[in-house]
Amino acid sequence: MENSNTDIIKLAPFTRELKNGKTLLVREVTPEDAEAVVQYYHKVSGESQLLPFGPGEFDHTVEIERDLIKKFRAADNQFNALALMGGEIVGITFFIASARPRLKHTGELAITVVKEYWGYGIASLLMDTLIRWAKGAGIVKKINLRVNTNNERGIPLYLRKGFVVEGRMEKEVCINGEFFDSYWMGLKL
Ligand SMILES: CC(C)(COP(=O)(O)OP(=O)(O)OC[C@H]1O[C@@H](n2cnc3c(N)ncnc32)[C@H](O)[C@@H]1OP(=O)(O)O)[C@@H](O)C(=O)NCCC(=O)NCCS
Repeated sequence: MENSNTDIIKLAPFTRELKNGKTLLVREVTPEDAEAVVQYYHKVSGESQLLPFGPGEFDHTVEIERDLIKKFRAADNQFNALALMGGEIVGITFFIASARPRLKHTGELAITVVKEYWGYGIASLLMDTLIRWAKGAGIVKKINLRVNTNNERGIPLYLRKGFVVEGRMEKEVCINGEFFDSYWMGLKL
């Protein structure tokens, strides 16, 4: 796994034992992960109604994903980490932000975990990891996220991490003709 000379290393890989006795590896994403990341999103897109894309709707090719990963790694205000079990991706979190000086202190967090491993604390660990990076990086002063108002697992988790609801966006998501509202949540660092 080679680092390009534009990469900014943001996370030392670490392992954690889960409730099920299995070992979780958390590390930054690399361009070599692009294909597995695309497959991962195709999988999780079919496991809940809570993402902005459904089954077959994740539209990144491996090439697009690889380029995106390179941008994440080169940006001092962006972050993208994987949780792996036995070499397989079981969770991803990322923080995407603008390079514009007026906006680069803020961005949006996204998080997913494969359904088989919900409830093992993987999302909680990934969020802690991302927030720790953001605090340490010093550039990021605010983390935002959007969550469907019916996301019963996500919202309590975000509240516990210190996020507050800043607003409600009506009819933000439409699934098979049914509209769902989203909360805009924020965490000031
Ligand atoms: C939301 C999501 C990321 C949470 O991942 P997770 O790894 O299951 O989360 P955790 O195990 O860290 O648990 C988070 C909290 O959920 C709650 N939780 C756990 N099991 C639960 C259950 N069976 N029912 C309801 N809540 C439960 C707990 O309060 C837990 O907090 P804790 O750390 O105090 O135990 C995951 O369910 C997911 O990927 N969902 C689909 C995609 C999605 O909604 N993404 C977020 C979009 S904004």
